[in-house]
Amino acid sequence: MSRFEGRSVLVTGATGGFGRRLAERLAADGARLVLSDIDPKALDDLAERLPGGAATLAGDVAREDLSEALVELAVKRFGQLDIAINNAGIAQSFVKLPQVPSDEARRIIEIDLLGVFYAMKHQIPVMEKQFRTTGAGGTIVNIASVAGLAGAARLSVYAAAKHGVVGLTRSAASEYATRGIRVNAVCPSFARTQMVGDFVRLAGGNEKDAHTELTRGVPMKRVAEVDEVVEVILFAADPKNSFMTGHTLSVDGGIMAI
Ligand SMILES: NC(=O)c1ccc[n+]([C@@H]2O[C@H](COP(=O)([O-])OP(=O)(O)OC[C@H]3O[C@@H](n4cnc5c(N)ncnc54)[C@H](O)[C@@H]3O)[C@@H](O)[C@H]2O)c1
Repeated sequence: MSRFEGRSVLVTGATGGFGRRLAERLAADGARLVLSDIDPKALDDLAERLPGGAATLAGDVAREDLSEALVELAVKRFGQLDIAINNAGIAQSFVKLPQVPSDEARRIIEIDLLGVFYAMKHQIPVMEKQFRTTGAGGTIVNIASVAGLAGAARLSVYAAAKHGVVGLTRSAASEYATRGIRVNAVCPSFARTQMVGDFVRLAGGNEKDAHTELTRGVPMKRVAEVDEVVEVILFAADPKNSFMTGHTLSVDGGIMAI
């Protein structure tokens, strides 16, 4: 049996770079998917293309009622929620801290940090209930960033939000370690998704300069390919990976090694 066969898996930010590939890999592996994204059209298109389809609900992760509704959808459609991958996120303008518009800072915190808090707040109780009734709890994988493990020049608010995601991950992991719920964070450096395109655009559109900036300090001197990151997210989500919790897995071409 393949590792995600029959598992009920929720993915947010499902139509983006990592999310789309995660959905494809999980569907190919026999998972039963609940997918969400803020873009309803892209979400419908994705679900139509997946073998076996998917339950979908579009919305903004900064709204707590979306998180609640997604968990309800998973339980209604598949009877349970085995794995949640909290992946939706946005970039910030590539500027020093005083130049970050305060409205933008609030939006980043609402989506990148509170979005993960709302998600876990509603995912954990249902997983704990499953643990009480069947002995099988669940697994949560939060997509943070290397900017959640160390400071990131010109990404201060994004880094603050991602440090917050790491804090939520470690705290919840310790709270639920004996309740059948594993919680881990994956911390990529720049990977070749729309988000890198957004950083380039927000930096003024000079792709060559932005690329030099993005790979400065990366021992491998390149950005990651989507599959290189997705592989690690699936590793963290794998039910067989049963003793790893509260961990932050950097996927960063060696950044955190130096
Ligand atoms: N690509 C990178 O270089 C990189 C590096 C480190 C961490 N990350 C993190 O990985 C995750 C996925 O990023 P990606 O690179 O696939 O980006 P992406 O921009 O390709 O995808 C993000 C997805 O989230 C969705 N989204 C945006 N705002 C939303 C909201 N308010 N509510 C619901 N959905 C929303 C978008 O529509 C998009 O489909 C993010 O949390 C990001 O911070 C990305």
